[in-house]
Amino acid sequence: MPFRPRYTGLIDKYRDRLPIHDDARVISLGEGNTPLIRLNNVPRDLNKEVDIYVKYEGLNPTASFKDRGMTVAVTKAVEADSRAIICASTGNTSASAAAYAGRAGITAFVLIPEGKIAMGKLAQAMMHGAVVIQIQGNFDAGMQLVKEVADHAPVTIVNSINPYRLQGQKTAAFEIIEELERAPDYHCLPVGNAGNITAHWIGYCEYSSASGDHVTDACTFCKGHCPYGGGAIVGNRPKMVGYQASGAAPFLRGHMVDSPETVATAIRIGHPQSWDYAWAAVKESGGWFDEFSDEEILAAQKLLAEREGVFCEPASATSLAGALRDIRSGKIPEGSSVVCTLTGHGLKDPDTAIKQSTAPVLKVPSELDAVRKAILDNMA
Ligand code: F0G
Repeated sequence: MPFRPRYTGLIDKYRDRLPIHDDARVISLGEGNTPLIRLNNVPRDLNKEVDIYVKYEGLNPTASFKDRGMTVAVTKAVEADSRAIICASTGNTSASAAAYAGRAGITAFVLIPEGKIAMGKLAQAMMHGAVVIQIQGNFDAGMQLVKEVADHAPVTIVNSINPYRLQGQKTAAFEIIEELERAPDYHCLPVGNAGNITAHWIGYCEYSSASGDHVTDACTFCKGHCPYGGGAIVGNRPKMVGYQASGAAPFLRGHMVDSPETVATAIRIGHPQSWDYAWAAVKESGGWFDEFSDEEILAAQKLLAEREGVFCEPASATSLAGALRDIRSGKIPEGSSVVCTLTGHGLKDPDTAIKQSTAPVLKVPSELDAVRKAILDNMA
């Protein structure tokens, strides 16, 4: 059998659709190419004829989807001779920025809300050598400070207001189309700062345009002039569905929220930066927004871990919580194909996982009889 070429990251794979020069020094950790896993047990339990896939973005190098955007943003920062990058973060962006800065040999400054980021993410930022700046404020305050300080210091912002981030993140949509050989009918995502739902819509729109002749003039992003010449012809685009935590749901309220709260700390955001783009993605695609309580989010996280063997962080499970509700109600009809993005790995936030788990941890003497009894008593 012939050897397949080694996978070397999404810039190499999608270079013709990314704003990267041929001679660029690419900063990559082999991100992208994540599994699209078809759920078996959950749809059966629902008793509904639907194909539900999860795009397991937690298997990126720093265990979240942020790496897709960061490889492009940091490659461009290095190209522009930037010696430092900066971001505000609920955790994952800071972990990713720290890793890619380390790889590039530049400095990462990360602003995080004190006490409100999951331990795994803090450990990553620290281990990768970022300068961690904890603020006594939330993500939205950090974002404001980053925007202000970037005017006064030689740093490149790598939050998703940096357009290269969205360019990298759009490649998740490319991978899904290539694997399914069409776009799904529905694409469900957790929404925080709203960059990722925007990026996916860009990706789907580009792929649905036929070599330069954009199929729709309505696309907010390229207005019918796809800068990358369009992709293969894909007849359909998904309805984009954005799910939020009820305590941090500006898209449901119709206005910014000042004190967001949720156990899903990754999406504890009240002032999303990509507000207009996310609305455009949802409206153009015929999708919608919805909201979920912390209990519903954690239940979906647990269900996925227990019934399918896939461990994602709480924020990520919002996409599945949403899909399940909408499939049950019929809003997503039978016969549909649905992709849920699992944005980050469950190991990012072990504290929340252990706190909510009801799995028995038995304590027994270190003896054969005791262990055998524990097994026999607990056989399903
Ligand atoms: N899921 C996870 C695990 C995230 O970390 C984020 C965002 C989102 C979903 C929402 O994506 O912001 O593009 O709508 N995390 C950012 C961070 C804000 O700082 O790590 P979005």
